[in-house]
Amino acid sequence: MRLILLGPPGAGKGTQAAYITQKYGIPQISTGDMLRAAVKAGTPLGLEAKKIMDTGGLVSDDLIIGLVRDRLAQPDCSQGYLFDGFPRTIPQADALKHAGIPLDYVVEIVVPEENIIDRMSGRRVHPASGRTYHVTFNPPQAAGVDDITGEPLVQRDDDREETVRKRLAVYREQTRPLVDYYSQWAASGDKDAPAYRQLSGLGTVDEIRERIFEALQR
Ligand code: AP5
Ligand code: ZN
Repeated sequence: MRLILLGPPGAGKGTQAAYITQKYGIPQISTGDMLRAAVKAGTPLGLEAKKIMDTGGLVSDDLIIGLVRDRLAQPDCSQGYLFDGFPRTIPQADALKHAGIPLDYVVEIVVPEENIIDRMSGRRVHPASGRTYHVTFNPPQAAGVDDITGEPLVQRDDDREETVRKRLAVYREQTRPLVDYYSQWAASGDKDAPAYRQLSGLGTVDEIRERIFEALQR
C-alpha cells in the first residue's frame, strides 16, 4: 500500500496514519515529525526549520524533497509507505511524480476551518513517537501521559491560535491546489495515477478510521 494523506492542519492525518500504517505494515513518512525530530536534536536543519515552523510557514521545497528522498531509500519503504504532510506544494508533488515514486491512493480528509482551532488547542503529542491525543476528543488513558510508554505529553509550539490561522492560510494558498492536481490526474486515465478518495473528517476518530479503511478497499 502506497498512499498520501492530504488535508488541512488538524484534519486528523497523524491520528489516522497510526491506524493505516499498523493495518498495512508500512512506515509513516511525516515530514512534520521528521522536522520536529531535527529541531529536538538541534541539527542545523532543525534550527533553520524551527524559525519557519513557528511562524506557520513552509520549509523550502528543496530541503523537504531531499529529506523525503533519503527516507524513501531506507529498506522499510520497499513494501509501501504513507505520506503525511507531504507533498504540500505543487513543486513537491511534481518532484514525487517525476521521480516515478509509485502511489496507489491519495486520501483527502475534509474538515471545515471552524472545527480546526478547537482540535489544535486541545492537542497533546508524545514527541518521541508522534502519537497524538486530544484532551476531550481523543484522551489518553491516563491524563498527560502516553498510553504506550507512560512518558509525558506536550503541546506543539505551532498550536497557538495565531499560528494555526497562518497555517490554515498557507494550506489554502499552497496545499489545496493539490486537490485539483491529484483528482484531475486520477480522472485522466493515466495508468500511473493514484486513485483519489475524498472523505469527511468530521465524526469520531473510529468513524473516520472505518471510512478510510473502506475507501482503501475500493
Ligand atoms: P505537520 O506536522 O505536517 O502539520 P500539519 O499538516 O499542519 O498537520 P497537523 O499535524 O497539525 O494536523 P494533523 O492532520 O496531523 O492532525 P492530528 O491527527 O494531529 O507540519 C508542521 C510544520 O512543518 C508545517 O507548518 C511546516 O512549517 C513544516 N512542514 C511539514 N511538512 C512540510 C512540507 N512537506 N513542506 C514544507 N514544510 C513542511 O489531529 C489534530 C488534533 O485533532 C489532535 O488533537 C487529535 O487528537 C484531534 N482529532 C483527530 N481526529 C479527530 C476527530 N475525528 N474528532 C475530533 N478531534 C480529532
Ligand atoms: Zn500531523
